Parts: sequence; structure tokens; C-alpha cells
Amino acid sequence: MNQTDADLFERAVAVAARAYAPYSRFNVGAAVLARDGRVFEGVNVENAAYPLGVCAERSALVRAVGEGCRPGELEAIAVTASPCGGCRQWLAEFRLERVTYRDGAGEVVTRSPAELLPDTFVL
Ligand code: THU
Repeated sequence: MNQTDADLFERAVAVAARAYAPYSRFNVGAAVLARDGRVFEGVNVENAAYPLGVCAERSALVRAVGEGCRPGELEAIAVTASPCGGCRQWLAEFRLERVTYRDGAGEVVTRSPAELLPDTFVL
């Protein structure tokens, strides 16, 4: 893994402490690096109505988009958990180049959105 992605993963680990996850008690942090150098952080935010919860990846991407970023302008993302299926579709949509995360075996790995979601749906 390159140093940029290692640093981004450290940001994700640090921000996970700010997750709001009283129901699952599973804190997740994410950090997105834009091509212009800005970094946007996100955490999972749960709700008593369970399906309304938001994943850390989407919360970071929403922040980036709110600050003006568009598909192709985001270089990399780091997440403290393996991205869920829905988040993989979001990562494909915004054309992230690299996704760094801790996999099921506990190893920190870097993959492309295409590797994470083969035969991706596009409209
Ligand atoms: N979660 C994320 O934030 N990202 C993922 O990709 C996997 C799951 C969150 C959602 C929920 O708040 C908690 O982890 C347990 O599923």
C-alpha cells in the first residue's frame, strides 16, 4: 500500500471514534481524498428506525459532494470496515480509483471499485 493510502486509512481509524452507533456498537470511519488534496471524513450514523442509518463511506461522500466534488474528482477512500454492497455501488458511481479497507481477515488491502463490484450497474 502507498503512503497516501496508509495516511488516509489512519484518518479513517481516528474519525471512527466520532461514529454514532448506539445500536450496533460498531463504529466505522471513512476518509475520502479529493484530487485537489482535500480530505473529507465520515462516520456511520445510526437511527432508532434501523434502516435509516447511514454508512461511514456514504457520509464521507455526501460531505465531499456538498463541498462541490463530482464523479472523477475523488482519488481514494479509506474505510475501517469492508464496504457493504450499497456503498460499493456509491464508490463505483463516484469513480474512486482506490479503496483501502480492513478486510474480513483483518488485513488492510487496496482494491478498485470494479474489483469490489464486478459487472457494475450503470445507467
Ligand atoms: N457500516 C458502515 O458504516 N459501512 C459499511 O460499509 C459496513 C457497515 C455500518 C452500518 C451500521 O451502522 C454498522 O456498520 C453495523 O452494520
